[in-house]
Amino acid sequence: MRVDPFIIRTEQPHDAEAVARLHIAAFGDHGRTVNAIVDDLRPTIADLGGSSFVAEADGEVVGHVLVTASLLDTAARLVPAPVLSPLAVAPARQGAGVGGALVRRALEAASASGSPFVLLEGDPRYYSRFGFRPAGELGFRKPSLRIPDAAFQVALLPAYEPWMTGTVVYAWSFWAHDAVGLRA
Ligand SMILES: CC(C)(COP(=O)(O)OP(=O)(O)OC[C@H]1O[C@@H](n2cnc3c(N)ncnc32)[C@H](O)[C@@H]1OP(=O)(O)O)[C@@H](O)C(=O)NCCC(=O)NCCS
Repeated sequence: MRVDPFIIRTEQPHDAEAVARLHIAAFGDHGRTVNAIVDDLRPTIADLGGSSFVAEADGEVVGHVLVTASLLDTAARLVPAPVLSPLAVAPARQGAGVGGALVRRALEAASASGSPFVLLEGDPRYYSRFGFRPAGELGFRKPSLRIPDAAFQVALLPAYEPWMTGTVVYAWSFWAHDAVGLRA
């Protein structure tokens, strides 16, 4: 693994254009949709919580991770459900630990703010190394049947309590952009 130096820092307003370019580079045709979701959800952090971190190397934004609040419909009440999405690293910088550093920082921030867990949709071969595990086994119901069970994952944080189970209700932007699960 290359060890080019990079830093992880909170995203600033002036990063938005670089973040958009990054998502287009990392996700290809899907990148504009991904960034539209980022633009929708980023402003919710101020009121609903969450975090947005960038990785910077040589003065360039080379990675981005966003955690925003969806909902968990528990038996007791609706509770905020932090969702990690998206995560992207510039193609030329992939495989050098940037993605891992972003995920770990996002989990630290969620933990520090008292969030009980972080949910995501992704490849378990990647995310299991950060403590993510199949969410269905803990009683979380996925927001769409089109999400493979193995992809629907959760990382439990110190504030987690076992009553926190129920159906995950994604923030509207994921639906508005038809970016939930897999389509045939
Ligand atoms: C997925 C992504 C964020 C990983 O970032 P990264 O900086 O390359 O990851 P790291 O350097 O921290 O980790 C690299 C390791 O993850 C593995 N890895 C990367 N993507 C993987 C995937 N989809 N499935 C399984 N393993 C994966 C690499 O093989 C490597 O393994 P190793 O440590 O055994 O060598 C990056 O590849 C990316 O931006 N991809 C395109 C966008 C994307 O798919 N985002 C995730 C959506 S859920």
